[in-house]
Amino acid sequence: MPNNEDIRQRIRTIPDFPKPGIQFRDITTLLLDAEGLALTIDRMAEAVEGRIDLVAGIEARGFLFGAALAVKLGCGLLLIRKDGKLPGATIAEDYVLEYGTDRIAIHADACAPGARVLLVDDLIATGGTARAAVRLLRKAGAEVTQAAFVVDLPELGGADALRGDGIAVHALVAFE
Ligand code: PRP
Ligand code: ADE
Repeated sequence: MPNNEDIRQRIRTIPDFPKPGIQFRDITTLLLDAEGLALTIDRMAEAVEGRIDLVAGIEARGFLFGAALAVKLGCGLLLIRKDGKLPGATIAEDYVLEYGTDRIAIHADACAPGARVLLVDDLIATGGTARAAVRLLRKAGAEVTQAAFVVDLPELGGADALRGDGIAVHALVAFE
C-alpha cells in the first residue's frame, strides 16, 4: 500500500504527551493489531538490503520490533540497553538529550568484529539515540550500514543526520 498507509492508520497520536506541544506517536495500537504487527515486520524485513548477521534493538520499544525482525531474518538479537542494566562487561556511549545526557551500553563481547549489524528502533526523532547506537556498535567493531524504524519524524532531522553517518535509513511511515 502506498506510504504504508495501512500501518500508519494503526499508529495512534496522543497530543501533549509527555509534555505540552508534543504529538506522541503511539505504536501500542499497532502492536495490539495482529495483522498490523505482521505487516510491519514483513515490510521492515523487505526493506533490508543484503545479508545481516545480527539485529541490534534499542531499549525499550526497539526490542519489540528488533526481536520479531531477527526471527524473520534468521539472525540473533543484540540488546542496546540504557546504562546499568547489563550484567556483564560493557562498552557505553553517551548522547545528548534536551536536558542533560544519557548513556547506552552493550555487552563488550556481544558481536564479532566485522559482524553486519542492522540497527532497529520503533522511531527516529532527533536521531540522538540511533546515532549513539551506531557509534557504540562501530566501537565494538561491527559493520553498521543500515537502520530500520517504523516511524520517522523528518522535521526533527534524525534520519538525515544518520544518513550523514553513512547509514541507509529504512522507515515505514513519516509523520510531518
Ligand atoms: C524513544 C524512541 C527512540 C528515541 C527516539 O525512546 O523509542 O528510542 O526516543 O528519539 P531520538 O531520535 O530523539 O533520540 P525513549 O528514549 O522515549 O525510551 P523508551 O523506548 O524506553 O520509552
Ligand atoms: N520519541 C521521541 N519523540 C517521540 C514522539 N513524538 N512520539 C513517540 N515517541 C517519541
